[in-house]
Amino acid sequence: NENQTKKQSPDKNGFEHFMLKEIFEQPGVIKNIISNYADNKLFNSNNSFSKEELQNIDKIYIVACGTALHAGQSGKFAIEKFTKIPVLTDIASEFRYNNSFIDEKTLLIVISQSGETADTLGALEKGIKAKAKTLSITNVEDSTIAKTTDKSLYCNAGPEVSIASTKAYTAQVALIYLLSLDMAKKLKTIDDEDLSSILIELKKLPEKIEEILQNVDTIKNIANELKECQSMFYIGRGPDLITAKEGSLKLKETSYIHSEPFAAGELKHGTMALMDSSSKVIAVATQSNLSKKTATNVLELREKGVSVYSVGVEGDVLLEKNSNYTVFIPETLDVLSPILTVIPEQLIAYYTSLAKGIDVDHPRNLTKSVISE
Ligand code: G6P
Repeated sequence: NENQTKKQSPDKNGFEHFMLKEIFEQPGVIKNIISNYADNKLFNSNNSFSKEELQNIDKIYIVACGTALHAGQSGKFAIEKFTKIPVLTDIASEFRYNNSFIDEKTLLIVISQSGETADTLGALEKGIKAKAKTLSITNVEDSTIAKTTDKSLYCNAGPEVSIASTKAYTAQVALIYLLSLDMAKKLKTIDDEDLSSILIELKKLPEKIEEILQNVDTIKNIANELKECQSMFYIGRGPDLITAKEGSLKLKETSYIHSEPFAAGELKHGTMALMDSSSKVIAVATQSNLSKKTATNVLELREKGVSVYSVGVEGDVLLEKNSNYTVFIPETLDVLSPILTVIPEQLIAYYTSLAKGIDVDHPRNLTKSVISE
């Protein structure tokens, strides 16, 4: 009824769907995190571990489910780069029952938007039993997971209503960046000059996300071409492979298109046999040391008649030349780019879902929080 519509519509803030609203909230969410944590708490407080505690850590596990796992897999690159501590990532439902190497020298990081996912909680309990130090990243401050870990970082992204997670993902990634810098500063594995230049770049991310959100024409064209396809691939290398996994999951969830993320360099080892003129691929190529290699893969795919849509860094003429369409993200440090790359991917998923007439906020068979195994 009318009252209900009135009651619900302000929540969407004028947007047609929660997913779109939440995508557009990301500049504010990231800005908030940076000012809350980078400017005060994280670097000198109880939110993270002391220098002495960190010196005693010889390995880090990041364990989560779904989109939260992808945030952890993106964060692995930053933690390893800045702290030089090896990071293993695992799916919570696997980690719980696998052999793992956890002891008092292990830091177990669990990531969960809801803070209630059963498998993530099970993984955490396993870590605690094995005496690991524990840290959580959640979007619900008093959630079970947040209350169970030694340290907890809070996304403060506001309620995420859309089943497909968007703003919680970028918030989680931003928090891992800050965490990795905090650890590196305490461990002295980063010098002051590098740290401040990275922080300067971090602070520019919200306006760069804003820039991407203002240019959706190419994204809508891609969505229009994808809407008829049954099956497609997302490819990338390094951090771009992780973002490809996230883009692929988003597209699957919201548009019901079978989408498979793939390491660009692995295509030739079998999967290339599937490619013909009906195939569609999204190539993610934002890393300065890898994007040329992916652009070459794009060309090889085009030569087989495949339609390739790319996400690359502004000014990448080779990628643009080789692709049917290219969506550009503004330049940033390689290690920080996953937070930008995912934005066009979220929008591609959203507009493809819209073009197919799917209820984008409530994809079939999915729930926001999986509280049973
Ligand atoms: C469900 C949601 C996903 C989410 C995953 C993990 O599958 O639909 O969006 O990424 O659970 O949830 P969590 O609350 O632990 O992040």
